[in-house]
Amino acid sequence: MPIIADKKKRERIIALLEKAYWMEMETVMNYIAASTNLDGVRAEEIKKSLAADVTAELGHAQLFAKRIKTLSGIVPGSQGFEAEQSFLQPPKRTTDVVSIIKGVIAAEESAIAHYNTVIKECDGIDYVTQDMVITILTDEQDHLREFEGFLKEYETK
Ligand SMILES: [Fe+2]
Ligand SMILES: [Fe+2]
Repeated sequence: MPIIADKKKRERIIALLEKAYWMEMETVMNYIAASTNLDGVRAEEIKKSLAADVTAELGHAQLFAKRIKTLSGIVPGSQGFEAEQSFLQPPKRTTDVVSIIKGVIAAEESAIAHYNTVIKECDGIDYVTQDMVITILTDEQDHLREFEGFLKEYETK
């Protein structure tokens, strides 16, 4: 028996989880790139922070994948992937820390917006997914606040 009996509602939640899964996977790719590409003394802390976040975001992707499976969905393969983070591509100058910080803020904001949608859609239907996404949302809010803090410092220099 599927976890959520209503097929339409279950498929809707699985579709939202798939989108969340891809967002995390794309974030992993771009945080690896940014944590590697940046140059200079001012970039060091940002690189360290992003390298640590790769692990966190990968963990989120694994949680979304596991939940898709539990809901009787199929975790997609790479050919289902469509990139969306145009705002987080490697900058022309490898010392352009500010553009990366702004890109990270945009990525975290879009994750937060999507996860709020998932939380609302799960209400009254799937409290386990809702609870999981609330926990993940907490991490993204922490990431966002941290990078907003970095931006304050780097923009005044
Ligand atoms: Fe995440
Ligand atoms: Fe995040």
